[in-house]
Amino acid sequence: MGINIAIDGPAGAGKSTIAKKVAKELSFIYVDTGAMYRAMALYLLEKGISGDEKISEACHDADISIRYENGEQQVILNGKNVTAFLRKEEVGNMASVSSANPEVRAHLLKLQRNLAAENNVVMDGRDIGTTILPNAEVKIFLTASPQARAKRRFLENQQKGICSDYDQLVAEIAQRDRQDMER
Ligand code: C5P
Repeated sequence: MGINIAIDGPAGAGKSTIAKKVAKELSFIYVDTGAMYRAMALYLLEKGISGDEKISEACHDADISIRYENGEQQVILNGKNVTAFLRKEEVGNMASVSSANPEVRAHLLKLQRNLAAENNVVMDGRDIGTTILPNAEVKIFLTASPQARAKRRFLENQQKGICSDYDQLVAEIAQRDRQDMER
């Protein structure tokens, strides 16, 4: 049985930054659930599968797992290391579409719970403490003001060479918070 730490909270609050630091400090595995959704998207793209019905059928054949080599996260899809392909724009777009499919979410929930049962993990996301690991030993809800989160996004974008408008980022974050709360 693993010890589980769940970090929930809105986008840009610093969940993955904190999760990675905590995992390193405690020698736990940091489970990047977004990377798992991206690996699922890659699987569907490689197989040329689209449309809700076909995705629901095919997603169960994707076995996705996370392991660490020299401190670096490696994502394994059906035995193959796919880490290098996950940050592509088209993979992110497909992840956004396929993550809305309930079968995809149910399948990844199972894989994420298996990882948490077998290892000491730190897992972050919006639904980890509530849906994925409701019995986690430690649950943290991490948030920050829209301004602080927009500043973080702004600096992240700057590092990636993307120029963004700070006021627009604040407005987008506030809008997303409203949508999430109303949902
Ligand atoms: O965080 P990242 O950009 O890698 O996540 C990729 C996509 O996976 C997100 O845009 C979101 O649609 C989905 N996702 C999700 N639930 C999670 C993590 C990611 O639906 N816990």
